[in-house]
Amino acid sequence: MKAFIIDRYGKKVALRATEMPEPELGKDDVLVQIHAAGVNPLDLKIRDGEFKMILPYRMPLILGNDLAGVVVRVGSRVQQFKPGDEVYARPDDDRIGAFAEFIAIKQGSLAIKPKGLTMEQAASIPLVGLTAWQALVEKADLKKGQKVLIHAGSGGVGTLAIQLAKHLGAIVATTTSTANVEWVKGLGADVVIDYRKDDFEKVLHDYDVVLNSLGTETLEKSLRVLKPGGKLISISGPPDADFAKSAGLSGFLKLVMRLLSYGIRKKAKRRGVSYSFLYMKASGEQLREITALIDSEVIHPVVDRIFPFESTPDALAYVETGRAKGKVIVKVK
Ligand SMILES: NC(=O)c1ccc[n+]([C@@H]2O[C@H](COP(=O)([O-])OP(=O)(O)OC[C@H]3O[C@@H](n4cnc5c(N)ncnc54)[C@H](OP(=O)(O)O)[C@@H]3O)[C@@H](O)[C@H]2O)c1
Repeated sequence: MKAFIIDRYGKKVALRATEMPEPELGKDDVLVQIHAAGVNPLDLKIRDGEFKMILPYRMPLILGNDLAGVVVRVGSRVQQFKPGDEVYARPDDDRIGAFAEFIAIKQGSLAIKPKGLTMEQAASIPLVGLTAWQALVEKADLKKGQKVLIHAGSGGVGTLAIQLAKHLGAIVATTTSTANVEWVKGLGADVVIDYRKDDFEKVLHDYDVVLNSLGTETLEKSLRVLKPGGKLISISGPPDADFAKSAGLSGFLKLVMRLLSYGIRKKAKRRGVSYSFLYMKASGEQLREITALIDSEVIHPVVDRIFPFESTPDALAYVETGRAKGKVIVKVK
């Protein structure tokens, strides 16, 4: 099958088209012919080697963490899916490879694709949808009337998180640049801070939750908009010991992560708020909850650009500019 791979880690390493063997199917696996793949900053971080300590991939590695497609074959223990089903998924993080014609996915990580979406729209949902769900529903336990700040509202995660937070009944603030202010209001944001003109820390007070996807400066400032008891959840680091534990990492890595997050945890404690890191997980079950919200038109996909399969490296380069409005998709079939 055709696939886009890297041969080694590195910032300048180019994604390369090649022929790869079709994936082998385990008893609990579903073989999916990929029609569309979503591109994520995570693909870049994996290419750069940022995850090599916690996710030791074997080379050559097919990149790609989001997909929609059609079931071709199922393993002997699979009961939920059959050939011909239209499905979508974020594959498990040790079994990525969506920039390819086929992928084998654990049945527990897969869900039937929302009926009203094209393959390209469906491929835009899993990773960012699950991230928003796991941050706002699982970790934050966001309730009606609570105030949440979602950074980078025009990005892949931001566009989904704003819609989910509004559905949960929260008052939503977000940060974006001048050109996107009206656009993120259209997604449902109640308060929009133009980060080129205003400092969010001076405008927002007494927030219950902040979802951070930006750098250290934003992370630290975010502490100051929370009220006592508030929750700072970061998906862009630093990782903490709880994450190391849930990921089953070694005692040494647990210690490393405790040290990496020591500063922000200490500052959070001083202000009477909590800090936690989230690394999203594949989940067919949660994807089905998201499907229901899409089917009832509570959540809409936000696709910025669709690239042809042969232009996958260009799609990755576009995501690397950091300016995407919503999701970037590769049309595989
Ligand atoms: N831990 C996890 O499980 C997890 C899961 C998903 C994503 N992530 C991470 O979360 C981050 C965001 O992911 P993503 O998919 O949303 O990225 P993305 O779609 O590539 O984000 C691009 C958006 O970020 C906005 N942006 C850039 N700088 C900004 C700033 N200073 N303030 C406000 N907005 C800013 C841009 O808006 P403007 O053009 O208006 O600046 C653009 O719309 C990445 O680092 C990703 O790796 C982590």
